[in-house]
Amino acid sequence: MGLSTPALEALCGNKPPKSYNKTVHSSFLKGFFFGAATSAHQVEGGNRNDWTEWEVGNADRLAAEAKKRSWPEFLLKNDPSPLQKENYISGKACDHYNRFEEDFDIAKKLGHNAHRFSIEWSRVEPLEGRFNEKELEHYRNVVHALRKRNLEPFVTLWHWTIPLWLKNKGGLESSEFQIYFSRYAEKVVGALGTDITFWITLNEPNALVRRAYIEGDWPPCKRSFLSAFRVLLYLARAHRAAYQIIHKHIPRAQVGWSSAVRYFKPARKNVLDYLSTMTARFWSEKFFLLLTRNENDYLAIQYYRKGEVQFPLRITDTGDLSDIGWAIHPEGLHFILKRLSRYKKPIYITENGLADARDAQRGEFIRNHLAWMKKAMDEGADVRGYFHWSLLDNFEWSSGFWPRFGLVEVNYKTFKRKIRPSALVYKSIIEKDLSSS
Ligand code: FCB
Repeated sequence: MGLSTPALEALCGNKPPKSYNKTVHSSFLKGFFFGAATSAHQVEGGNRNDWTEWEVGNADRLAAEAKKRSWPEFLLKNDPSPLQKENYISGKACDHYNRFEEDFDIAKKLGHNAHRFSIEWSRVEPLEGRFNEKELEHYRNVVHALRKRNLEPFVTLWHWTIPLWLKNKGGLESSEFQIYFSRYAEKVVGALGTDITFWITLNEPNALVRRAYIEGDWPPCKRSFLSAFRVLLYLARAHRAAYQIIHKHIPRAQVGWSSAVRYFKPARKNVLDYLSTMTARFWSEKFFLLLTRNENDYLAIQYYRKGEVQFPLRITDTGDLSDIGWAIHPEGLHFILKRLSRYKKPIYITENGLADARDAQRGEFIRNHLAWMKKAMDEGADVRGYFHWSLLDNFEWSSGFWPRFGLVEVNYKTFKRKIRPSALVYKSIIEKDLSSS
């Protein structure tokens, strides 16, 4: 398995990256993972956690705010549309909890050989210290279903939601957070079995802390640098503890956390914008890494967009935009991979994708990002896997259901799945690669 020469031509398509270098290094030709990612709260349905409470309390407000914006017609045709209250309530989501076998059949059909998913903490430990064996069994079945289809599981322990009992104890700001997280991690690792190699303890701590504790538009909606700092320290401690726990059970495990990275560039050629850009890069690439330096077997990055930075820290999306206004910039992935190569660790791209309800840009998006990824690999970056976000359309946090990120379209009334043409573009790249190595 790997990315070999015929696949390179396919990847580059009509738009090869400038200065593309065709040398193929044999060191990364083995065992490359191609797949897609999901997270429990966004796809499962039927959850009860801090987010579900927040959604019910804020759906009216979010729908009313959406009415004040102007929307392109095709987005208003989405069902649910951004103007409807039900758009903002996760409810049954994609009903993936009951349909995971069907969904993994689709992933298999699309040529994937790996899949990233997350465990919903509030299901596994709905009451403090009381674990639900039936739910642990459910996740064992999920892993089994993946294995049966030769899809390598990448397990995320925390993808932003927390149980209500923990929320009532102060959530991520509780000084006991590390203890609670360790107990949960110990239970999950023990229950899922020792054949799982790839673990992601925390999803994008940097993004969550920015939205929930600095900008304050996600639960618990705080605006406090002190809280943000405290939460980052507690999350880092929790990661370090979970790292040890996983390795105690599974010595050969590969454990990391995933980082939201973005390609930042100065908006204007002046010193202040340049310094602001450096600050943004430090925050997105380095800060949490410094806090967890000795406990990372690999780096996991999640890359979506470019940002132009103006002093003091005004960041704007410019150029080609996705449905949610994120600036599409495939070259940025190459830039980030090259920068992160200096840490001399394997790198996994655990998310990359776009909201594109009409599927007009997704095929090109995948082609171009993979081409730039491959160029970085040719130049020495040790990239070992790529996970598209997402397998399915899903519940996109405070934006709700209207942003369509899926390789597979979901009808939220019937739960019918429909493969988008771009999923086949991805499939053909994967197949060319896997068959020629
Ligand atoms: C990432 C999140 C993921 C999804 C994508 C669009 O930051 O990790 O859950 O919301 O953005």
